[in-house]
Amino acid sequence: MAEQVVKPISTNQISTIFPQSMPMELSCADITAEICWPVGIAELSRVLGGGLVPGSLVLVGGEPGIGKSTLLLQTASQLAQKRGAVVYASGEETLHQVNLRAKRLGISGEKLFLLAETNLETIFERLDRLKPCLVIVDSIQSVFLSELETSSGSITQVRECTLRLMRWAKQTQTPVIITGHVTKDGAIAGPRILEHIVDSVLYFEGELFSSYRLLRSIKNRFGSTNEVGVFEMKENGLSEVDNPSQIFLAQRQRDSIGSIVTTALEGSRPLMVEVQALTSLTSFGQPRRTANGVDFGRLLLITAVLTRRLGLKLSNQDVIVNVTGGIQINEPAADMAIALAIASSFRDKPLNYETAAVGEVGLSGEIRAIPQLERRLNEAARLGFKKCLVPRSSVKNINVSNIEPLPVSTLREAVLLGLADGKTTPATNISE
Ligand SMILES: Nc1ncnc2c1ncn2[C@@H]1O[C@H](COP(=O)(O)OP(=O)(O)O)[C@@H](O)[C@H]1O
Ligand SMILES: [Mg+2]
Repeated sequence: MAEQVVKPISTNQISTIFPQSMPMELSCADITAEICWPVGIAELSRVLGGGLVPGSLVLVGGEPGIGKSTLLLQTASQLAQKRGAVVYASGEETLHQVNLRAKRLGISGEKLFLLAETNLETIFERLDRLKPCLVIVDSIQSVFLSELETSSGSITQVRECTLRLMRWAKQTQTPVIITGHVTKDGAIAGPRILEHIVDSVLYFEGELFSSYRLLRSIKNRFGSTNEVGVFEMKENGLSEVDNPSQIFLAQRQRDSIGSIVTTALEGSRPLMVEVQALTSLTSFGQPRRTANGVDFGRLLLITAVLTRRLGLKLSNQDVIVNVTGGIQINEPAADMAIALAIASSFRDKPLNYETAAVGEVGLSGEIRAIPQLERRLNEAARLGFKKCLVPRSSVKNINVSNIEPLPVSTLREAVLLGLADGKTTPATNISE
């Protein structure tokens, strides 16, 4: 617990975001200006709902080291080339550090102004002189207003600085992007408390050891939420991934045991990912379950269902489930694929290489309906899958071509069908 002294000047600042508060007929409002500017990075534009809206305040959140600064520096350089001056205010890194990064990313830096400053009033002063078309503040936790007594990064500072930036953005009709760190548990004074102030909230996420990053829209006043952009972190910066499913499936082996593909929905975008499972006899003590990329609780549920409803003796088996590419899938729609992968590994029989699976598993071993089946099937068909195991209850009124839905009502049915369909690989006798 830390005491936060609220100063009277800071109350009701939100009301001053809109300076001329005269009633105005909607039809008279000026809409001649461009609605939004594409930012030169298609994935980012899409997540923003087409591009940056003048006067909007966008928050990009994410764990430290995920690549927020990299993404924004690349955005800044793109917009500087297209539209004119962009100011990148860095409160975290020195000019030298930002410069080194810019060199690595191959950014020339024309019309891109770096500002190593943490006093927000000073930043505004500099901005008034430059009149930039975009301002980036990296990060909101590092800037401060000297009139507040608390240290930078505290809730009061973070909130007041954001309100001030919001007002500035609205007054000058300049888009502002701020970054904010979140820790795994959404730490205090993190951007969570800012979500209701800003216009759009994007979260940048991914496993640090994998090179893929997802940019997710959590809130957007100017476009659809739940959009996802996929990037790959490389030596020379973030590059866009146009066809993520293909990349996540690129290293898939034909007819390998304990592997199946499922279609996870990331926002409006279906993403095909490979789910792998390995079961092996527990050699010592308690059997272990390891979940990489899937929810641990769901894995326990699925192994329990496989044990009790299908009679698979998993109680003396270690079970490892892995989603390739460092992607995290939290949807119950991946349940059936997880169960099939485990069953395939346990029975030592491959599943059909060209069959995918989507469906939620219930406790009595039933396969439950999932949303947006048609969209998932179309993505599977696009990537060359011939069949897909689907919940019988979702299959009504769907219209897909080039892929055959295999409706199942129970997990038992799904496993029997899935394993019967797989080709057995010729035996290789490494161990014998
Ligand atoms: N030379 C490099 N080659 C490849 N990736 C790098 C290199 N240098 C840094 N990175 C990547 O950039 C990340 C840091 O990105 P940064 O934009 O500073 O993150 P954030 O601003 O979110 O803290 C590192 O975690 C690493 O993945
Ligand atoms: Mg950074």
